[in-house]
Amino acid sequence: MRSVALRLFVIGILLSAKPALAFSQEPPAKHPRGASSALEPVYAPLAEQIVSDFQLTEKNGIGIDLGSGPGNLIVELCRRTKHMHWINADIDSSVFLGFMNKAHEAGFDGRVSAMHADATALPFRDSYADIIVSRGSFQFWDDLRAAFAEIYRVLKPGGAAFIGRGFPDNLPLELAAKIRERQREGGFVPEYDVDETARQLKDMAESLKIAGYKIRIPKPAGGDGVNYGIWIEFHKSASK
Ligand SMILES: C[S@@+](CC[C@H](N)C(=O)[O-])C[C@H]1O[C@@H](n2cnc3c(N)ncnc32)[C@H](O)[C@@H]1O
Repeated sequence: MRSVALRLFVIGILLSAKPALAFSQEPPAKHPRGASSALEPVYAPLAEQIVSDFQLTEKNGIGIDLGSGPGNLIVELCRRTKHMHWINADIDSSVFLGFMNKAHEAGFDGRVSAMHADATALPFRDSYADIIVSRGSFQFWDDLRAAFAEIYRVLKPGGAAFIGRGFPDNLPLELAAKIRERQREGGFVPEYDVDETARQLKDMAESLKIAGYKIRIPKPAGGDGVNYGIWIEFHKSASK
C-alpha cells in the first residue's frame, strides 16, 4: 500500500513540469455514489470510439483523462492503445489508490499515473498532452471557460480534446436504455438540457476562439427517448 502511494507521488511529480502535490487537502468534488456500476458498460465502447476517432492504437504519447475518478475509462484506453501513457487528473485524490490498484490488476503498471488537478488550473506545462478526454466531469467544473482555456494550453499543437457527458455514439440503444433505467431505479438520473448545454459549450468555444470545434450529440436511430449526452471535440492548431 505504502509503495503504491509513494510511486503515485513520485510519478506525479516527475510527469508534471509545474510540480504539484499529488495529494491535497481539498474536499472531494461531489459525484454520485453507486452511479459508476450502472455505467460500467459505457467505458469499453467509449474507449473504442476514442481510439478509433483519434487513431491512438499505435500512437506514442500522453493522454489525460480529466476527472477520471475510479479510472474505468483509462483502463479501457490502455487495453486499446499499445504505447500511450494515461494520466488520471482528478480534483479528488482519494480515488487514486483504487485507480492504481485497478490498473495494476489489469496489467497496466507503468502505463498510468495520477495527478491531483483542478480542471480550471491544470498542473501541466504548455503543450504537454497529445489528447485530453473527459466523461461526466465538466458539469462540476467551477469555471467552464477557464477549464477549456487550460485544456487548450496543455494540448500539444495538433493534439485533440474530447470532453463530454453521457454515452458514446456506438453504445447499443438497448444497453443505453437499460443504463438509464438502472440509474432511475437507483434514484439518480442526470437531468439537464442537452440543447442548453450545447449553447454553453458553443459560447465557451467561440469566446476562446477555438477553431473547428464540433459539438457531438449522439442520436442513434429510434433512440429519441434515451439521453445519450453531449460531447465537444476540438483540435489544437498544429501551427501554434
Ligand atoms: C461523475 S464523476 C465521473 C468519473 C469518470 N470520469 C467516469 O466517467 O466514470 C466526476 C469526476 O470529476 C471529478 N471532478 C470534479 N470537479 C473537478 C475539477 N474541477 N477538476 C478535476 N476533476 C474534477 C470528480 O472528483 C469525479 O471524479
